[in-house]
Amino acid sequence: MRKKTFAGVLAITAFAASAIVASGQTTPATLTLHPDQPVAAVSPTLYGLMTEEINYSYDGGLYAEMVRNRTLRGDWSGIGYWYLVEGGNARAKMEVDGFTGPSAALPKSLKIEIEQADARNQAGVLNVGWWGMALHHDTEYKGSFYAKADSASLGPITVSLVNDITGKAVATSTVSGIGADWKQFNFALKTGALEPSATNHLVISAGHAGTLWLQLVSLFPPTYHNRANGNRIDLMDKLAAMHPAFLRLPGGNYLEGDHINERFEWKKTIGPMVDRPTHRSPWNYQSSDGMGLLEFLEWCEDLHMQPVLAVYAGYSLAQEHVNPGPDLEPYVQDALDELQYVTGGADTKWGAERVKDGHPAPFKLTYVEIGNEDMFDKSGSYEGRYAQFYKAIKAKYPQLQLISTMPLKNMKPDVQDDHYYVRATQNFADASHYDKVDRNGPKIFVGEWATREGSPTPNMGAALGDAAWMTGLERNSDLIVMASYAPLLVNVNPGGMQWETDLIGYNAMKSYGSPAYYAQVMFASYLGDHTVASKLENAGPKLFYSATINTAKKQLYLKLVNASSDPQPIQIALPGAQPKAMAKLIRLSAPDTQTTNSIDDPNRLVPVESPVHDVSSSFSLILPGYSIQVLQIDLQ
Ligand code: AHR
Repeated sequence: MRKKTFAGVLAITAFAASAIVASGQTTPATLTLHPDQPVAAVSPTLYGLMTEEINYSYDGGLYAEMVRNRTLRGDWSGIGYWYLVEGGNARAKMEVDGFTGPSAALPKSLKIEIEQADARNQAGVLNVGWWGMALHHDTEYKGSFYAKADSASLGPITVSLVNDITGKAVATSTVSGIGADWKQFNFALKTGALEPSATNHLVISAGHAGTLWLQLVSLFPPTYHNRANGNRIDLMDKLAAMHPAFLRLPGGNYLEGDHINERFEWKKTIGPMVDRPTHRSPWNYQSSDGMGLLEFLEWCEDLHMQPVLAVYAGYSLAQEHVNPGPDLEPYVQDALDELQYVTGGADTKWGAERVKDGHPAPFKLTYVEIGNEDMFDKSGSYEGRYAQFYKAIKAKYPQLQLISTMPLKNMKPDVQDDHYYVRATQNFADASHYDKVDRNGPKIFVGEWATREGSPTPNMGAALGDAAWMTGLERNSDLIVMASYAPLLVNVNPGGMQWETDLIGYNAMKSYGSPAYYAQVMFASYLGDHTVASKLENAGPKLFYSATINTAKKQLYLKLVNASSDPQPIQIALPGAQPKAMAKLIRLSAPDTQTTNSIDDPNRLVPVESPVHDVSSSFSLILPGYSIQVLQIDLQ
């Protein structure tokens, strides 16, 4: 009897039904859906990605470089993450040499003076990586460095990966021919049988006395799509599963920098690594700029995303701004050059530069954002700055959609970027935020949003807040052209996090998705092209839904979020529709809002897929307490 009334997953149904009887407080809600009555088009670019150099998202994260401080920067405490190696009775010293380097961008280097060493007792330096170096068995790691020596008698250099626990080299290579002039050398380190671990470091050493200078020491594991200078495979796989339609780049605060001279200067992030000077990020560490403008664009290419390019617009976080007018002109020109680098042909100055950098094909670009969060600019200069960029960009690229970072009084931007960092209760209260927003105003980009509960990654309570909010995004995606959770990534090692509540956590060895990550995956994986007419009755304040249809596939995607601790029975009516009897249910649920995943318990909460039998034009489900579900109903 119950099976007929409440189709669904029987085990869960039985549990939930008894809970209802016991508490006696939840009456069935009724949801009526009209799949034959499309209401509004769903933006095909609704879900995308946003992150920046924060929480070691690129360096020590997505960007697969294994060497930390590869440009050998020193400070009062030494040369970070680099240490001297003196085997046996070998003797050496190291220091930053401010007078020699391989390029104008990297004019300094690490000088290693070896007073005494022999083949068995070598001297040199070691690098500890990003909280270790993850090594796997039978894997090739490709490395390089720039080097010069004071004399050929220094002999070949040994490069090894050494296990921290055993002190034994697990892969070794030699580099010969280091001479008096700076030159780049490549090497490969191949592991054999070993237990995968991150407790490893890189050693560069010599068996003779002499002086060696090093710069830009680099080591990469196999990368996503085998790109040189590429991205971590596990993280790219996780991002791909989010079905992102766009990437907002190069970031929020990271675009602006604390000071104008610490902004993301795209021209200093292109070309060979040796020509990139690196720069300080506002999140308090140096960015290697290995993830430069072209790498961002290639990341888009790899995941079939379109770039949403944010250009620096003359405001930096320490209340530094550039006045609109002649002062701003060089910044406007810089943005125009950037657009040409991204979209121009080989016959344009900056398009040719991109071709030289290895990417002949121009990138498709639709959206350009002018600045970031300019409501924090207390000078009030944004209206003028936006207008100046708008005029110059539209004159050359009338087809581009230009995004403002705050509401404007004097003109209507094409798109307005809204940001929300809130608690779950706020998202429950505000899930209908855009329902009544004027459709004659600018289109909306929710460029940063998150329910901030849980650290370093969100818990189930946050996932429920997010899912409730996303039902509102989908319902209003005639207005909301794009939306992206932020921040996306966090290195969970001590000191790795600058911003609490980030979607995906990792260390050198492994990564995991938070419950909120899985909510994103579920929502983006099942998104139709239109919303359908619907009505919810008798529901409590913590039940949220969205219904979209893929008209070509004749599939209805119903998202149901029960943010209450109590189970929620629901009667679903599809008047006039002929659903196939078997539907697919994907559910994420937890016993408590604080339940979460972690680096050591990555799969505590994952979506579970199950069939739903006996679906008809009127059927019932029980939504467990604290649950997010997608129901895919195939229509005949
Ligand atoms: O996502 C973290 C930060 O939040 C972004 O850099 C900034 O735009 C916002 O304030």
